[in-house]
Amino acid sequence: MRIVLLGPQGAGKGTQAQRISRETGAKHISTGDLVRAEIKSGSGLGQKIRDYNDRGDLVPDEIIVEMMRPYLDEADSWILDGFPRNESQAEALDKMLEEIDAELDTAVALEAPDDLLVERLSGRRTSESTGRIYHAVYDPPPEDTDEDPGPFVQREDDKVEAIRHRLRIYHEQTEPLKDYYADRGILVTVDATRNITEVTGDILEAVGEVEEKA
Ligand code: AP5
Repeated sequence: MRIVLLGPQGAGKGTQAQRISRETGAKHISTGDLVRAEIKSGSGLGQKIRDYNDRGDLVPDEIIVEMMRPYLDEADSWILDGFPRNESQAEALDKMLEEIDAELDTAVALEAPDDLLVERLSGRRTSESTGRIYHAVYDPPPEDTDEDPGPFVQREDDKVEAIRHRLRIYHEQTEPLKDYYADRGILVTVDATRNITEVTGDILEAVGEVEEKA
């Protein structure tokens, strides 16, 4: 399985990538997680990209491409979450895949209206110890610390102003990638307004359908 998860902020890319990875063993590669880990490490690169992240702006393409390149080659089966984000990154991905003689199976676009996304992101909590994503109402963190010791924190970029800014960038730069992959016949769309378990089932079904047709 080699899939790209497209979709606006809060559609559930990270949530679904974690669940599909647990179910199928495919490696979850999240450029957002890579960015946050670099910032947390306090490295020079981390300091350079912190402001982009906190404002909700995209980190420059050349930095992101170099950050994620080593991970593509690491596993046969993967789910890309948050990459590519614009046409130039999509072309860079094509080039990297050609270099390692691999092909993308499916681009899955998760679809949901902006107002719902703001509500989801405002309630998002992430476990600092496991990285697992929760929601204060829709998917609350467990009380049992053996299951996940937490602490459960809010992301720096989950303030309403930054969320709206990220959504604007999504519509301008990332959404056109749906046509990029539709033109190749590998795009499937999934209704991301359904509950978390239903969306996972829909993605797995959609990915299976595309593989059968191929
Ligand atoms: P990134 O971490 O990728 O953030 P994002 O794109 O803003 O996406 P989100 O993580 O906000 O949304 P998601 O769809 O993963 O939602 P989630 O599953 O958490 O990127 C962060 C920053 O890094 C960027 O702004 C940029 O600066 C930089 N960056 C990253 N990649 C880059 C790239 N390629 N190029 C340049 N810069 C890059 O779900 C959200 C909430 O909703 C959770 O609380 C969850 O529990 C809940 N939820 C999910 N699904 C459901 C459901 N079906 N029903 C109810 N609740 C749900």
